[in-house]
Amino acid sequence: MKGIILVAGNGTRLAPLTFSVSKPLLPVYDKPMIYYPLTTLIQAGIKDVLIITNAKDKQKFETLFGTGAELGMNISYEVQHVQRGIADAFMVGEKFIGNDNVCLILGDNIYHGDSMLPQLKASARLQNGAEIYGYHVADPRRFGVAVFDQNKNVTAVEEKPAEPKSNLAVTGLYFFDNSVVEIAKHIQPSKRGELEITDVINEYIKRGNCKLNELGKDVIWMDVGTFQSLNKASSLVETLQNVTSKYVACIEEQAFDAGFINNKQLGNTIEKQKKSDYGKYLESVYNANCQAQKEAQNITEHFLDKYQNQSTKLR
Ligand code: DAU
Repeated sequence: MKGIILVAGNGTRLAPLTFSVSKPLLPVYDKPMIYYPLTTLIQAGIKDVLIITNAKDKQKFETLFGTGAELGMNISYEVQHVQRGIADAFMVGEKFIGNDNVCLILGDNIYHGDSMLPQLKASARLQNGAEIYGYHVADPRRFGVAVFDQNKNVTAVEEKPAEPKSNLAVTGLYFFDNSVVEIAKHIQPSKRGELEITDVINEYIKRGNCKLNELGKDVIWMDVGTFQSLNKASSLVETLQNVTSKYVACIEEQAFDAGFINNKQLGNTIEKQKKSDYGKYLESVYNANCQAQKEAQNITEHFLDKYQNQSTKLR
C-alpha cells in the first residue's frame, strides 16, 4: 500500500495567513500541519509516500522531508498544476501508484486516537475495494456525508449536501485498490467544476465494494481548513501534550514506533532541533529507549548466566 498526501490547495480560506506560507506548513501548535497526516500514514505502516503540492510550494516540502530517508521512508513529490479536484490526485500520482493499492489523506485532516490504530493497519492490508472513515459531526453540510438504507448499509456519499441525510461525515482518509486510477479517469467534473472524491467512492459503493469504518468516540478528527478549527486543533494538541507524556505527531518517534528506524537513527534527528521543546522531547524519547534497551540486555544476560550455571550443575 502506497500513500498520498494532497496539499496542493492555495489555502484561500486562511488568507492572509496563506499569502506567503503554504497552508500545510502552518503550525498546529508546535509542528507543521502536514506532520499530522504524515503521522496517520506512518501509523498505518505506509513507507512510500507521495506529496502532491502546487508548483510554488514543492521546494518547501522537499526541504522539510527530503527523500524521507531520515524517517526510514521513501518520500517523493509531484505537482498538481491546476486544482481539478481531490480525485485528480490519482491521475497526478498514477506513475507513483503503479500497480499498488493506495491510501489518500488530505493535508488538512488531523486524526488522533489509539483505538483507530488497529483499523488503520487493517485498512492498509486491503486487497480489493475501498475503505473510508466516517465521523459523527454537528454540521455535516461542510463535508461529504454518508447516506444509509433501513439496514444501515451505505448507499451513497453526498458532497456538501444542503440537507444532509445523516450526520456521519466522510473524512479525508481513503484506502483504495488499484482500480481507483481508472475510476478517477472516468468521473466527470461536478457542478462546481471539481473531480469529486465522493464520485469515486460512489463508484465503489455501486460495485458493492466499499467499507465504511466509523471512528470511535474517543478519536479526535478535525479538518483544519478554517481559523477556528486551526486554533482549536492547536489548543487541543497543547493540552494533550501537557496531560500525557507523549507528543502528538512527533514523526521521528512515530517512525521508530512503526519500526521504520532504530533508536540510533532517531538519535541522529535530534541535533538540528535540539533547542526546541520538540527536540528536547525527542531527546527524552531517545534516552528512554537507550535505558529500555539496556534493561532488556541486562535481563537477557541474567537469564543466560542462570541457564549456563544450571547446565554446568547438570553436567
Ligand atoms: O475534510 C474532509 C472533507 O474533505 C470531505 O468530507 C469531503 O468529501 C472532501 O471533498 C473534502 O472537502 P473540503 O471542502 O475540505 O475540500 P477542500 O477543497 O478544502 O480540499 C481539501 C484539501 O485538499 C485542501 O487542503 C486542499 C487540497 N486540494 C483540494 C483540491 C480540490 C488539492 O490539493 N487539490 C485540489 O484540487
